[in-house]
Amino acid sequence: MEQEQPVIGILGAGRAGTAIARTLLAAGIAVDICSTRAPKALRHHLKIYAPGAQAVWPAEVADRTRRFGPGTVVLAVPQEELDEVEPEWAAGCVLIDATNRWQDELLPGWLQAAVDEQLPTSMAIAGRFADSRVVKALNHISHHELPEAAEPDLPLAQRRALAVASDDDDARGLVMGLLVRAGFDPVSVGGLPAGRLMEPDGPLFNRPLRRDDILRAAG
Ligand SMILES: NC(=O)c1ccc[n+]([C@@H]2O[C@H](COP(=O)([O-])OP(=O)(O)OC[C@H]3O[C@@H](n4cnc5c(N)ncnc54)[C@H](OP(=O)(O)O)[C@@H]3O)[C@@H](O)[C@H]2O)c1
Repeated sequence: MEQEQPVIGILGAGRAGTAIARTLLAAGIAVDICSTRAPKALRHHLKIYAPGAQAVWPAEVADRTRRFGPGTVVLAVPQEELDEVEPEWAAGCVLIDATNRWQDELLPGWLQAAVDEQLPTSMAIAGRFADSRVVKALNHISHHELPEAAEPDLPLAQRRALAVASDDDDARGLVMGLLVRAGFDPVSVGGLPAGRLMEPDGPLFNRPLRRDDILRAAG
């Protein structure tokens, strides 16, 4: 019997979500992806921006990935829209928070409260998605660069390094394994508070990093 591929769910099929989908698909990882549109309406968009990804309803985004363990779902919806994302869609899963805060976004109250307290947004997201294990990752590289930056044939030390932050060691390890398979050199920066380093005003944002650059920034 043919071995089933692992599957990752992606919430959001815009620039980030489809770039992440293309990167995973190129590494032989299947992708279920959703947007505000019905799957039928999303399919044409995916033919162009993420060929091979399967369009699903948001409430189904974790169904297939859960067959391979806890399941892994990427959050790639703008932060201003997060009140419309039901935490139960990713319940029980590892949730990769790939989102960023932009100055002009009107944030949901629970997220704005964290920003006002100068907390990293992923900590508020972990509070909101309390039934998921949140890992901050994939937010600090642009969709323009992500698919081409993946180089699975190179040794780890020669690959682009990506930072990973989580309070959950198992979840962080799982995401680091996924990033290795996708063609990166993942580097743990510690718990979710360290996700601050990866935010738009942090030292790791949107820079072509190697492992040592991340370790130096993480101190
Ligand atoms: N752009 C980048 O290079 C980049 C890189 C890393 C991280 N990020 C972060 O990723 C997040 C998304 O950015 P983006 O540039 O991809 O935005 P975008 O191009 O505007 O795409 C947003 C996607 O989210 C979907 N969406 C909105 N509300 C939803 C809901 N309730 N349920 C399911 N899907 C929903 C949209 O659906 P429709 O298509 O139906 O409108 C769209 O597909 C932001 O926080 C951003 O900072 C962006």
